[in-house]
Amino acid sequence: MSKKILLTGGAGFIGSHTYVALKDAGYEPVILDNFSNARRDVTDRLEIITGAPVVCIEGDVLDGNLLDRIFSDHKIDAVIHFAALKAVGESVEQPFEYLNTNIAGLYSLLGAMRRANVFTLVFSSSATVYGQPDQLPVKETAPRSFNNPYGYSKLVCEQSLEQIAASDQRWAFGILRYFNPVGAHETGLIGEDPNDIPNNLVPYIAKVATGELSQLSVWGDDYDTPDGTGIRDYIHVVDLARGHVQSVDALLKSGEGHVVNLGTGTGYSVLEMVKAYEHAAGRQLPYRIAPRRAGDVACVYGDPRLADELLGFKAELGLDEMCASSWNWVSRRKNF
Ligand code: UFG
Repeated sequence: MSKKILLTGGAGFIGSHTYVALKDAGYEPVILDNFSNARRDVTDRLEIITGAPVVCIEGDVLDGNLLDRIFSDHKIDAVIHFAALKAVGESVEQPFEYLNTNIAGLYSLLGAMRRANVFTLVFSSSATVYGQPDQLPVKETAPRSFNNPYGYSKLVCEQSLEQIAASDQRWAFGILRYFNPVGAHETGLIGEDPNDIPNNLVPYIAKVATGELSQLSVWGDDYDTPDGTGIRDYIHVVDLARGHVQSVDALLKSGEGHVVNLGTGTGYSVLEMVKAYEHAAGRQLPYRIAPRRAGDVACVYGDPRLADELLGFKAELGLDEMCASSWNWVSRRKNF
């Protein structure tokens, strides 16, 4: 019988792509989402992509009674915990909301898992736990730090999971440190869909390309990088989604936890991203050079080898596919 995986935040950007990847791999995903940053028609779109009904429960991870009901109704085998708040700037203004949703949300989930005797969890962490790394590409053993409440919440969650895993061998945690996820599913039916003006680079560029925003601000061209703009490790969301399947596979098979980077190992600058997107969209994209954004670091890219070693995971899709799939998604979405 296929294994059931609960996806908290499963209607969001990474969650929805992981839903598709899990179905493709023969799992039965169940979505829990409060739709605070996801559109309700995502489930219809997932049904079109997978050709099967979607099980989606609307609710919050902080609701322990709801979690208990889900575990007893659905006989869950493992959980992938995406549900969290993720905008760095907003976390500085609303630290309580971030700490409560991200940290208390994880504790609420772990409590319900323990009551239901489910001990396998994949956790969405972030390269934010590295701050500005001393050495590049950054390895999983690099020191961790934080610059804002969002980063703090991810660090506390990682450390909490480490302590819990050390205390009870039944727990198996896959901690996945995402670099910068971009792109969309090849059908153009699901993708990143920020509610407000995007904070992140590629969704912002995408809205410039569709004409919804007039120009991109490039936050600083005086960094110590070849063209002076910030460098990041962008990873296609479809690759990232597959990484979750491989993480769950490994946890269920071995019962051993892991902490891995999910990135490509290659960094691109802001201006390289603009150029690649121009190629995908077939038009020039207006931008201006603006002052540095507070809290930004010059350059971060990951060492992807441990994920390959432990999970057999390698990112396969390149920059052109990231930009083309994003453009396919945003240009079609406008016509829905
Ligand atoms: N940038 C611009 N203009 C914009 C938006 C971004 O020039 O309008 C630049 C940034 O200065 C940076 C690069 O584009 O150099 C990428 O910025 P993003 O906001 O897309 O991504 P970050 O690397 O800053 O942040 C992402 C996630 C965080 C996570 C962090 C650390 O959004 O959640 O990676 O890995 F914490």
